[in-house]
Amino acid sequence: MDQLIFLDNGATSYPKPEEVYTFMDQFYRKYGVNPGRSGYDLCMEAGETVEATRAMLTQFFNGTDPNRLCFSYNSTDALNLIIFGLMRKGDHAITTNLEHNSVLRPLYHLKRDLGVEVDYIPFDKNGFVDPDDFSKRFRNNTRLVIINHASNVIGTVQPISEIGRRCRERGILFAIDASQSAGKIGIDMERDSLDALAFTGHKSLLGPTGIGGLYIREGVEVRHTRAGGTGVRSAQKTHLDEYPYRLEYGTMNVMGVAGLHAGLKWIESKGMDSLHHEEMRLTERLVKGLRAIDGVTLYCVDSLAGHISVVLFNIAGQDAADVGTMLDVDHNIASRTGLHCAPLVHEQLGTDKIHGGVRFGIGPFNTEAHIDTAVAAVRDIASMKSPKK
Ligand SMILES: Cc1ncc(COP(=O)(O)O)c(C=O)c1O
Repeated sequence: MDQLIFLDNGATSYPKPEEVYTFMDQFYRKYGVNPGRSGYDLCMEAGETVEATRAMLTQFFNGTDPNRLCFSYNSTDALNLIIFGLMRKGDHAITTNLEHNSVLRPLYHLKRDLGVEVDYIPFDKNGFVDPDDFSKRFRNNTRLVIINHASNVIGTVQPISEIGRRCRERGILFAIDASQSAGKIGIDMERDSLDALAFTGHKSLLGPTGIGGLYIREGVEVRHTRAGGTGVRSAQKTHLDEYPYRLEYGTMNVMGVAGLHAGLKWIESKGMDSLHHEEMRLTERLVKGLRAIDGVTLYCVDSLAGHISVVLFNIAGQDAADVGTMLDVDHNIASRTGLHCAPLVHEQLGTDKIHGGVRFGIGPFNTEAHIDTAVAAVRDIASMKSPKK
């Protein structure tokens, strides 16, 4: 069969730019030691790549202090640090129905264990939340507003600047989950009035798995929820308060940092906006093709303004998981089916009753031919009689 067509870039980007593989291989062979722990040359050189990547990411998000850019293992890890490090007993948080479980579950745990109260803002028929809905739910004890910048299910990009401004005016902390947007859409700590952001390295930043991070604005203090080795001031009994040590624990994934460094450089060399523009051109082609197929339902793509390259669909009378299997087995196309770790999106769309949907996620290495093959495959599947259950 032909080569795999990878349309699961919402889960992780694949393949990575060749430069990422090469740089990781060379870096690990040459500098694969534990940075920040010793003073020998190799250790210092490994540390330089870590610090250079911190500085690049800080600039990328228009932060002010590279030490406020802390590395984590992925965005789930970063979001846990942010949520558990900011929320306290008696607090109220506002989030949305667009969230991934990496925001929903920490908040559910806080509700269960500390009685924290949480409001969930629904999205409109086009997949966007209304900034005024946040203001209406502000309370005296609202401590945090946290939202998914770009939906991993329906691809809509939320109006974070407008929400951030409302939070800043009320002195409420504002954090975003930039898992899907970082590397596709510009994010600006200042313009967007952000207090904290979480990102993951292996999606649109084109790095490997196992690396992510968070940026915390100066003046915002996130409590430690873990403690351990930092490589400096080992005699101190408690974990260090200063950033980045405050939120970094144990040996860092240096190889992941190196891959992220190379991914970021690749994006900057191609231009993030032009990469995004090309992905959206292919997304438009995909949506147009799918829309013309009898029995296909698309969600929240009446317009692709304010979208990333993620498309959700279903075929009438067919289970999403079956469609995914046929795409894989009969057409060699990778998609992602089910609830996409975002159950409230599907609950609001009503797709939770039909086992979710099928998601295509387009990345920088997809082509028009991939899209046309995928549309033809969906047409083929849709033309089959629905299997008797
Ligand atoms: C919106 C969103 N948030 C969080 C995550 C979790 O990312 P990771 O598994 O890298 O922690 C994902 C990944 O699917 C996501 O799409």
